[in-house]
Amino acid sequence: MNQPLGLRLEIFPTEKEMGDRAAAIVLACVAGKPDAVLGLATGSTPVGLYQRLIRTFENGKASFRQCLTFNLDEYFPVAADHDQSYHFFMHRQLFDHVDIPESSIHILNGSTNDPAAECAAYEAAIQSAGGIDLQVLGLGQNGHIAFNEPGTPFDSRTHLVQLDANTIQANSRFFGSQAAVPRKALTMGLATIMEAHSIVLLASGSAKANAIHAMFEGEVTPDLPASILQRHPDCTVLIDREAAAKLSDAAKERWQARVVS
Ligand code: GLP
Repeated sequence: MNQPLGLRLEIFPTEKEMGDRAAAIVLACVAGKPDAVLGLATGSTPVGLYQRLIRTFENGKASFRQCLTFNLDEYFPVAADHDQSYHFFMHRQLFDHVDIPESSIHILNGSTNDPAAECAAYEAAIQSAGGIDLQVLGLGQNGHIAFNEPGTPFDSRTHLVQLDANTIQANSRFFGSQAAVPRKALTMGLATIMEAHSIVLLASGSAKANAIHAMFEGEVTPDLPASILQRHPDCTVLIDREAAAKLSDAAKERWQARVVS
């Protein structure tokens, strides 16, 4: 019997197995629908997934030629050619190595002088693409998804946000110093993300253990943005053992976690 949909949890021994599983989900989506609309994430966690997609493409076993992509977020203000912009990251980590046409790639413009118009146009573009078939998500240490920080309303659409001190600190490793991290970002909202037909969230390492614990064992609350995923009809959460370290056996049972040894 198939597992019921809803929020599902899979726990892997290491980040490697987690990445293999994430790649299998994305590749199955594209195999079933070659013109799939993919929502993509940045951060260090999905890098392994993107490497696997590149390898599969290079082996001639996948094509992204007909796909459309929408990235979750972008710093603001930031120039697209800044080496820490998400434009730069996505091209270096994925787009430069596969066959997706540049015109099919959508990333919020972090150097716009009209953030509200940019966000509205992004929402409209997602709608006119027919919505996102599969959204890849990472997880912030504070439970954020995309750049929706704690306190973001569940009905939020793509918008300009002020980054949390915790996020600035966590992301300063990429910028060399906290002072160099942009203070704002443009991000899909929680309602935008929840409209994706299916979602796969990846989290690895002990720094995510508290957020995973709160997401599966706490209330659904804007204080922990990722908790809203408890209400998604088809969301798979892939984590490694370190990220699972604070989950109780009762929670694993309640969510019928698939534990891979
Ligand atoms: C950033 C991104 C998020 C990402 C998070 C976690 O804040 N905006 O989308 O999920 O970082 O990043 P990492 O995977 O590097 O821990």
